[in-house]
Amino acid sequence: MKIYLLNGPNLNMLGIREPDKYGSQSYATLLEMIREHCDKLGIELVAYQSNHEGDLVDKIQEAYFEGADGIVINPGAYTHTSIALLDAVKAVSIPTAEVHISKVEEREDFRQVSHIRQACVKTITGHGINGYVEAIDFLWENKK
Ligand code: DQA
Repeated sequence: MKIYLLNGPNLNMLGIREPDKYGSQSYATLLEMIREHCDKLGIELVAYQSNHEGDLVDKIQEAYFEGADGIVINPGAYTHTSIALLDAVKAVSIPTAEVHISKVEEREDFRQVSHIRQACVKTITGHGINGYVEAIDFLWENKK
């Protein structure tokens, strides 16, 4: 099984940015944790982070052309604004899980909309970085 792990803007700043909301673990630590978990399950992982919307669209398309079986995505603030990311996930028809480290539903009004959610098979919010592991497990358990 091959999974693309995609992180949007400012997620490279994990551990530095608002630790009260996003925790004290760095992006490097997150990647280490996910890689270890994927290795255990025999999942091939492609991890990518970008602060640019179009780059994330490119990576979702790449997931299709590279034959990925699943996508785990935290689109960061693009969750709340991006129709392009929604369209990209719809275009590739790859089972996609949406992850948010914080409990977005208990935050500001502008965080209550997720455009990408309607194209996702699973949404996990508020479980910290463990939410990524849960998303991978979900895709693993539901793989065809
Ligand atoms: C986030 C929540 C978003 O509202 C925010 O813009 C982020 C991170 C989360 O992981 O909780 O960048 O997606």
